Amino acid sequence: MPKLGVNIDHVATVRQARRTYEPDPVWAAAEAELGGADQITVHLREDRRHIQDRDVEILVRTVQTRVNLEMAVASEVLAIALKLKPACVCLVPEKREEVTTEGGLDVAGSLERVSETVKKLNGAGIAVSLFIDPEPRQIEASAKSGAPFIELHTGSYADARGDAEIARRLDALRDGTKLARQLGLRVNAGHGLNYRNVQVVAAIPEMEELNIGHSIVSRSIFVGFREAVREMKALIR
Ligand code: PXP
Repeated sequence: MPKLGVNIDHVATVRQARRTYEPDPVWAAAEAELGGADQITVHLREDRRHIQDRDVEILVRTVQTRVNLEMAVASEVLAIALKLKPACVCLVPEKREEVTTEGGLDVAGSLERVSETVKKLNGAGIAVSLFIDPEPRQIEASAKSGAPFIELHTGSYADARGDAEIARRLDALRDGTKLARQLGLRVNAGHGLNYRNVQVVAAIPEMEELNIGHSIVSRSIFVGFREAVREMKALIR
């Protein structure tokens, strides 16, 4: 059964809407863990639109499971990661104008730069994953980067409409997982997963972890954070 990483960025989005102190993502992390989260995921964006440095600093000290820090391949955040040493780092592409992480990291097109960052993170004992589209050329490049993990971008699957298109996108995730395992990579997935579409992805053989944020935070408005996580965990199980 894949582990559940709960992404709490959008708890911070609500807080930042008023530049105040609530809701506190640190509190959300504790609730998520009580609901069965196996990991707390946060994205420290260059523009600090949701998660703040203070959040990451406290989370690495207080989270009882483990912290997965999503970040761009950029020296400023790399320095923070090397100082704070979260258990895991997921390298993601980042554009200032995007609403969310659109598309995967172009590892094939920037292998040298990505590999340098992976090396520094590996050296600090941080488990690195690369957030990539389920494309053979990105998977093959990832296998050369030194990163032990990839996280397959499930956005195209989540956005697909119609049975044939959904099946095609799901096949890409299945084939991508298989190829990555053959190349010695460990495989996670995430983005756009929700209470309706998660189960088939969770059933992909050798899928290790799913990172889910927006749908859990959305549901938490109605049922509470702990319960929203519990329900997601039950679906994955
Ligand atoms: N995984 C990665 C690498 C992401 O960038 C995000 C979004 O921040 C997620 C998972 C979670 O996506 P969602 O909020 O759509 O569940």
